[in-house]
Amino acid sequence: MRVLVERVCLVVGARPNFVKAYPLLRAFSEEGMEVSLVNTGQHYDAELCEVFFDELRIRDFVREINLKVGSGSHAEQTSRCIIQIERVLQREKPDVTVVIGDVNSTLAGALASIKIGIPVAHVEAGYRSFDLGMPEEVNRILVDHISQLLFSPTESSTMNLMIEGIPEDRIRFSGNVLIDSLVSVCENLGITPKNIDKEDYAVLTIHRPKNVDNPNRLREIVDAAKEIPIRVVFPIHPRTRERCAEFRVDLEGIEVRYPMGYMEFISLLARAKLVLTDSGGIQEEALFLGTPCLTLRENTERIETLISGGNLLVGANRERIIRVVSELLEDEKKYESMVKAEVPDRWDGKASKRVASELGESEMKIQSYNFMKMGIPQYMLVEKRELSKEDEVIAKFSRGYLSIYSFDTALVRRWRAN
Ligand code: UD1
Repeated sequence: MRVLVERVCLVVGARPNFVKAYPLLRAFSEEGMEVSLVNTGQHYDAELCEVFFDELRIRDFVREINLKVGSGSHAEQTSRCIIQIERVLQREKPDVTVVIGDVNSTLAGALASIKIGIPVAHVEAGYRSFDLGMPEEVNRILVDHISQLLFSPTESSTMNLMIEGIPEDRIRFSGNVLIDSLVSVCENLGITPKNIDKEDYAVLTIHRPKNVDNPNRLREIVDAAKEIPIRVVFPIHPRTRERCAEFRVDLEGIEVRYPMGYMEFISLLARAKLVLTDSGGIQEEALFLGTPCLTLRENTERIETLISGGNLLVGANRERIIRVVSELLEDEKKYESMVKAEVPDRWDGKASKRVASELGESEMKIQSYNFMKMGIPQYMLVEKRELSKEDEVIAKFSRGYLSIYSFDTALVRRWRAN
């Protein structure tokens, strides 16, 4: 098959991006593509960034362009990313910009690219929490609607895209690239997912603004962690560390650790009796490894983890968390069913290969939606001379030589009647 995409720019910026970049970079290079890696520098601390680059040997595959944008408000961070990514894309002139996931760097990469006429491919498209209060949900929706090729990790994410009217021929159900990384890490660690000797501790991770920027929710979660009948290991995100200090949340009784590299964290998660988390990726990793997951949120975009039974939404209420953990630890049958919960289709370690081969065979160009092709009646702006006699009536409603025109006259009439 002829490779149509030869030059790719992959934009990353935050910890979850780095983990997914590794299998993608490998697959792109196997496909013979020339790749440049734009790291926005959204995450800059060694423990959130460098450790992943080193461990996953990301620089073995690619030259990194680091933009060092750092932290800031959403507007500051995203706009700094956009300005700098635009410069790089103008210089590198890729056939396509590939963005991953839902962080601010993802949105910035997609916006900078489409605005200068470079098509965008989105990996991990279609996840929806239906909660616009999450910055990631805003990023996900916007990126999906300006991408020309969308790689979805699950069946439900594929459906979400179709429901939102994204043309089917742009969507590829590639599977989950995060699991590609996890498969290789498990091999390196000698771990067989779903068949791991569990040890007597729970892992806790929290970093979502909704949980850690709100002192009440943060306290409820920390208090619950202190009271559950199992030892708690807590690799703490810098944002969470700052908030605990600011709100004087006492962490005594919990084993606080620095953020870990990928291998160390997966090894910890795999052997844990259970995990309490508000991370999206950890819900998926826990399901794959066979570690029961209790999600400290009211919703999740990782619907399949709930459907399979490996994940429970518990929110951030202290009493509820303690009750659910206690019940789970006492009920062996329930516990085992969570460990053995089924892993979704195409979470098989081959998602990145699917992405690379589909991308290589796609003619990437920016096209507007063709609703006519999708069977949806459409209003268009056309030159007046193209109008039929009947539609010219409608033309009166608009100014100048551009007029509203419809291919479906029945719909035009209805609109006119209103
Ligand atoms: C970001 C992503 C989130 C992802 C998470 C993974 C967005 C909107 N959020 O959240 O989806 O789950 O990364 O970790 O993109 N900080 C440091 N060192 C760093 C980076 C950040 O100390 O290297 C601190 C700073 O105080 C910063 C805060 O963490 O203000 C938040 O960082 P930011 O990148 O804005 O968001 P995250 O909470 O990390």
